[in-house]
Amino acid sequence: MEVKERIGQLRSELDRHNYNYYVLNAPEISDQEFDRMMRELQDLEAAHPEYDDPDSPTKRVGSDLNQEFVQVPHRYPMLSLANTYNKQEVADFYERVRGGLEGEPFEICCEMKYDGLSISLTYEQGRLVRAVTRGDGVQGDDVTENVKTIRCIPLRLRQGTGYPGVFEIRGEILMPWTSFEALNREREEREEPLFANPRNAASGTLKSKNSSVVASRKLDAYLYYLLGDEVPFDGHYENLQAARGWGFKISEGMRKVTTLQEIYDFIDYWDVERKNLPVATDGIVLKVNSQRQQRALGYTAKSPRWAIAYKFQAERARTRLDAVTFQVGRTGAVTPVANMEPVQLAGTVVRRATLHNADVMAQLDLHVGDMVYVEKGGEIIPKIVGVDKDARGPQTGPKVEFITHCPECGAPLVRYEGEAAWYCPNDTACPPQIKGRIEHFISRKAMDIDSLGPETVDEYYRRGLIRDVADLYDIRVEQINGDDGGREKSAQKIVRSIADSIRVPFERVVFALGIRFVGEIAAKALARHFKTMDALAHATLDEMLRINGIGTVIAESVIRYFQDEANCGLVRRLREKGVRMELTEEEMSGHSDKLAGQSIVVSGVFSLHSRDEYKALIERHGGKNVGSISSKTSFVLAGANMGPAKLEKATKLGIPILSEEDFLKRIE
Ligand code: IVH
Repeated sequence: MEVKERIGQLRSELDRHNYNYYVLNAPEISDQEFDRMMRELQDLEAAHPEYDDPDSPTKRVGSDLNQEFVQVPHRYPMLSLANTYNKQEVADFYERVRGGLEGEPFEICCEMKYDGLSISLTYEQGRLVRAVTRGDGVQGDDVTENVKTIRCIPLRLRQGTGYPGVFEIRGEILMPWTSFEALNREREEREEPLFANPRNAASGTLKSKNSSVVASRKLDAYLYYLLGDEVPFDGHYENLQAARGWGFKISEGMRKVTTLQEIYDFIDYWDVERKNLPVATDGIVLKVNSQRQQRALGYTAKSPRWAIAYKFQAERARTRLDAVTFQVGRTGAVTPVANMEPVQLAGTVVRRATLHNADVMAQLDLHVGDMVYVEKGGEIIPKIVGVDKDARGPQTGPKVEFITHCPECGAPLVRYEGEAAWYCPNDTACPPQIKGRIEHFISRKAMDIDSLGPETVDEYYRRGLIRDVADLYDIRVEQINGDDGGREKSAQKIVRSIADSIRVPFERVVFALGIRFVGEIAAKALARHFKTMDALAHATLDEMLRINGIGTVIAESVIRYFQDEANCGLVRRLREKGVRMELTEEEMSGHSDKLAGQSIVVSGVFSLHSRDEYKALIERHGGKNVGSISSKTSFVLAGANMGPAKLEKATKLGIPILSEEDFLKRIE
């Protein structure tokens, strides 16, 4: 077979298997087979750049190059839907439709209201040519490169399925709950602000200028509206069923009904069942099915008269606000926290809710003693959504004001440009900041001094034994063995584990310093690139920006850290204590025997390194790459699309499955 033909064949086969996996959730082949085909295609494309195709399934990994988004007008404006919050309003809508259609029979299509961000996709001759965000409804951002990395969105439609030459399809881009939770866990470790809900996370991701970031975040998409001059049917429902056949992911939960009771039944069913869905939903959408009837009903300035959204009630409770306290973190950021009379909400007792920052707090206009509403909607952390102002009376206390001085050390608070938080700038003497930095330094992923905990740190700090992390190495047994010397054993253990920590690898020392925004992964990347603390301390912005995963925020923070003489002094003292300030010979050559004697299967698509890099890493650490899972396999290094067949085999044989992160940790 001609190379060109084989490339075409592989592309269409891989497209079909992607569809089976990501859209239908029903793979037909093992991932091994999938991987083999993908590799063959990658090799052929590398050898034959003349057959390059931007829609090739090998291109779904995105690019590191910064892109600028261009504003594009929508062919049909992207309107929003009128919202309703109770069944009476749904009944009113139903009656308005009946009246508007002058007694003609009509069908209503009931569907989920997905809580993500809306996207408009344009296809021409079966190819995705443009993906545009809603923007202001009239024009939006062209995010085509980012959208192309979302595996369930077809780049090319399935041949011979009868799609129109040109059409637009709209839908919702979502971040599944599991990806959202994993992303927030990572951000927490890096002390980056958390995403409040999957919608914000999906939207932040889709607007990333770096499409490889989008590829790594595992977004999903459901399509719910087909537009164009040549759509096949008059019925909206029928059009979407057809679109499913062309390759789009269309909700299986859509129903066509005629009576109000059937609409209520649909609402009641999904109000409960939606909790089992992998993505966030916030209501139901009701649409008049016939496009002819839709045209007859028309539009208001903002929304169609033929459709309406019914929003689910978020789980909400009412309770009393006792006080607002202010917490100072290790970075000095001050967070207001509402302390409330305990109340039952969505299965847990809620006592505290974050108020995020001064702006959020001011907007709520809280008074001590107010009755407040607490919600746990799409959010994980409960939040105060409003105040029952009618319940205010003479017993209500004063308005809660944001503090002007640090509650811990009294320093006047400052606000940095572009940041919502107020900070205590007294980082050298403010106790929670100092203790927070020490706690971070000793934590498991940093210096791993596990004989110490927050209480001991607090005690040593109060006794004046430690004022910074370098002081830890001066602690002597007789200072901490108790008044009567009775804690000798545990004191020895503590001193020993502090002394042992000087063997912790350099990259963890970089993380342990607690440089703002430098999480575990960034620390690793910086350590591996610069190899010594001196080189890192003198790194320029440009040098750092060239490293994969290091952006301006991190790079500027590193520069700021080493510009501060106090920090340089601290690093100098740590060096004197013997803490590692560079990679070891072994780490520099990247060789070890950490995987000696192990047989490892690499499967799936990866985001941190390429498959070949992983294979090379395995060899460099003494492991052996093997092709298929057997009882002799030590573990599977699994990327994004390890399919059920392989998973089942590994599970049946009891073989551990490691994620990229787990694997990198193992060989770190
Ligand atoms: S149809 C003219 N269907 O809700 C009708 N929208 O407030 C256009 N949404 O911007 C929208 N699920 O982002 C439609 N099944 C669904 C939906 C849905 C979620 C979102 C969409 C839209 C907003 C409307």
